[in-house]
Amino acid sequence: MSKRLRRGVTGGVHHSVRPARYTRPCRDAATGWEARILRVIRVANSLAARTERSHFRMILRNVTDEDLPIFFEHQRDPEALRMAAFSSRERDAFMTHWRTNVLRPGNISRTIVVDGVVVGNIGSWSQDGTRLVGYWIGREHWGKGIATRALSEFLGVEPARPLHAWVALHNVASIRVLERCGFHTVLSEPQEHPEGVAEILMRLGST
Ligand SMILES: CC(C)(COP(=O)(O)OP(=O)(O)OC[C@H]1O[C@@H](n2cnc3c(N)ncnc32)[C@H](O)[C@@H]1OP(=O)(O)O)[C@@H](O)C(=O)NCCC(=O)NCCS
Repeated sequence: MSKRLRRGVTGGVHHSVRPARYTRPCRDAATGWEARILRVIRVANSLAARTERSHFRMILRNVTDEDLPIFFEHQRDPEALRMAAFSSRERDAFMTHWRTNVLRPGNISRTIVVDGVVVGNIGSWSQDGTRLVGYWIGREHWGKGIATRALSEFLGVEPARPLHAWVALHNVASIRVLERCGFHTVLSEPQEHPEGVAEILMRLGST
């Protein structure tokens, strides 16, 4: 079975999706008042990020048919596809995949709702005796801590341990999300497979 099939929906490059921050000159050049200003900027950035991340209400609920067109739009975003190292499915293929492969007994799938808005999905499934997790957040919602909180909450829904995730090596944001939730790298496959993507396998819990 190909790695792409094993990996499910995890993976991806992440360009400039963090919240807008103040820019600052090179740290080495800073002296005196410059250093003080830089300290203030760092504190302001940190507070802004924390404030933005803590002020939303999230629920994970069962997926409904009405969610699928939203997920379809999320998975069509070119930057998201590069991050996840995925190819977009056409609408009919996407709907069929979700209705027959994703939403089937044995899998756990949840819609991520933030402040009443559907922002993405998260789920787990079994493949080759391994329990895998994957998630996808709509691009307009990136950089707010949503994936980190969704995975953290999902770990209370999915009891299987160990739990694994295949991630494209270039998907630094997703690797960070997994690390923050306690996953660590157990397998690196530095050789790129025929589609040109190096991947790592990350795991939560012991074997
Ligand atoms: C990857 C993805 C799930 C991240 O979602 P998100 O809600 O933006 O993630 P969060 O905001 O919770 O956290 C992202 C983390 O990566 C960090 N990050 C983002 N871009 C980064 C970059 N270029 N370099 C280093 N770290 C980066 C963020 O700072 C944050 O870490 P922090 O909390 O320590 O600051 C989202 O971009 C996505 O759905 N991408 C397309 C599909 C995909 O890749 N799915 C996952 C496959 S494994």
